[in-house]
Amino acid sequence: GVKIVTIGGGSSYTPELMEGFIKRYEELPIREIWLVDIESGKEKLEIVGKMAQRMWDASPYDVKVHLTVDRKEALKDADFVTTQFRVGGLDARVKDERIPLSYGMVGQETNGAGGIFKAFRTIPIILDVVEDMKTLCPNAWLINFANPSGMVTDSIIRYGGWEKVIGLCNVPVGAMMAEPELLGKNLNELIYSFAGLNHFHWHRVKDTKGVDVTSEIIDKMYSNDSGIPANIHDIPFFKEQLKQMNMIPCGYHRYYYRTEEMLENMLEEYNDENVGTRAQQVKKSEKELFELYKDVNLDHKPEQLEQRGGAYYSEAACETIASIYANKNTHIVVSTKNQGSVPDLSPEDVVEVSAYIGAEGARPIAFGTFKTAEKGWLQLMKNMELTVEEAAVTGDYGLALQAFTMNPLIPSGETAKRVLDELLIAHKEYLPQF
Ligand code: NAD
Ligand code: G6P
Ligand code: MN
Repeated sequence: GVKIVTIGGGSSYTPELMEGFIKRYEELPIREIWLVDIESGKEKLEIVGKMAQRMWDASPYDVKVHLTVDRKEALKDADFVTTQFRVGGLDARVKDERIPLSYGMVGQETNGAGGIFKAFRTIPIILDVVEDMKTLCPNAWLINFANPSGMVTDSIIRYGGWEKVIGLCNVPVGAMMAEPELLGKNLNELIYSFAGLNHFHWHRVKDTKGVDVTSEIIDKMYSNDSGIPANIHDIPFFKEQLKQMNMIPCGYHRYYYRTEEMLENMLEEYNDENVGTRAQQVKKSEKELFELYKDVNLDHKPEQLEQRGGAYYSEAACETIASIYANKNTHIVVSTKNQGSVPDLSPEDVVEVSAYIGAEGARPIAFGTFKTAEKGWLQLMKNMELTVEEAAVTGDYGLALQAFTMNPLIPSGETAKRVLDELLIAHKEYLPQF
C-alpha cells in the first residue's frame, strides 16, 4: 500500500484531497495518510484530521489518517509527499496584501510585492522539507501545492537538488472544466496546450482534427462565464489583444494586462471595512468551513469549499499521484523542468506546461516559441522569479530590491523601497535569512 504525507495537513483543503484519493482508490491503493502541521496549527489539524478519517470510514476502504506535528516521524518511508502549507498563516497574507495596497500598489497572494514575500517565507521551509526527505524517504515524489507554486517548485530543483517534484495549480483545471461547454463540446473532444509560468501561463485549443478553435473560445468568453477562480476580480481582457495573440491568458494575467482596473477594484475592497482584502474574506469563509468540519455527522466534502480559489485542486493533485503510481501518462498541466518545451526559456527553468504524467514523472509537451510580446513577458517574469528565489535563499537585500525593481506590478523608486522595508519588518519572524 501507498503512504501519503501531507505537510500543512490542517488546511481547509484537506477534505478536497481525501475526496480525490477515495475516488481513485482502486488505481491508487493507499495504506496510510499522515497529516503534518505545526504547533500553532494543531487545533485545525485535529478538526480537519478527524473529518478526513470520517470520510475514509464512510468509504469502502480501510485507510488510517495519522495526525502529527512531528514532520520527521511522518516522512519516514513516504511514497508521496504533498505540500499545502502557508508560512505565517492568513495573518501573513493579510500583510502581503495590505502593505502594498496602503502605498497604492497591487497587494496579492502570489503577485507583486506580496507574492515575492510569500516566496521569501516559503522557500526556506520547503528546502528544509527536502533535506528531511533526502534521508527519510529518498525515493518519494514531492507534489507541491504551496504558493507561489512555480517559484517554490523551481527552488526545490535548483537549490534543493531534488528532481522528483511536480508543482501544481488548479487554474488550468478550472479552464478545462469551463471552456469546452462554451463550444458545446466535452473535454475529450478538445486538445489543450498550456505553457508559461505558474499563474502566468497561456493556452491554445484544437479540436481532434487539429483545427485551432482558440479564437472561437475567445469569442464565446465575452458572452459567458469563463471559469476564472473565485479569488480574481472579473475584469475582461481587451478582446483585440486576445485575438492578436490567439491564446487565452490565465486569470492572473489580469493583474498585468489590466493593472489599472484591478488595482482600482482591490483598493475599493481594501478601503471598505465591511469587505477587506481577499485574505480577510478568506478568514471568514475558513471559519465557517471549520465550523462545518466540527460536525461529527459530516463525512463528505461540503460544497462551501468551492468558494475558495483552489476549488478542484484534488483533480490535479490526486490525478498526478495516481498517474505516477499507475504510469497512466495522463495529460496534466504541471510546473516542471522545461526541457525544451518552451524554447524561449532555458531547459533547466521550471515552467508550467502541458505534460504527460507517468512513472518517470512529467514529460512536458513541446509548445514551441512564443510571439514577441508574450516572449518578452515570459522572459522578464521568469528572470524576476529567479531573482526572487536567489534572494530567498541568500537573504541578500540588494537582490530583493532588484526583484522589486523588475516586478511589473511594483513601480520602482523610494516608495518601492519603503514597501520592501516595511514588509521585511512585518514578516521578520518568518525571514531569518534576511
Ligand atoms: P492555511 O493557512 O490553511 O495553511 C495550511 C496549514 O499550513 C495550516 O494549518 C498551517 O498551520 C500550516 N503550516 C504553516 N506553516 C507550516 C510549516 N512550516 N509546516 C507545516 N505546516 C505549516 O492555507 P491554505 O489556504 O489551506 O493554503 C495552503 C497553501 O496552498 C498556501 O500556500 C496556498 O497559497 C496554497 N494554495 C495553492 C493553490 C495552487 O493552485 N497551487 C491553490 C490554493 C492554495
Ligand atoms: C487559486 C490559485 C491558488 C490560490 C487560490 C487562492 O485559484 O490557483 O494558487 O492560492 O486561488 O484562493 P483563496 O480562496 O485562498 O483566495
Ligand atoms: Mn494556483
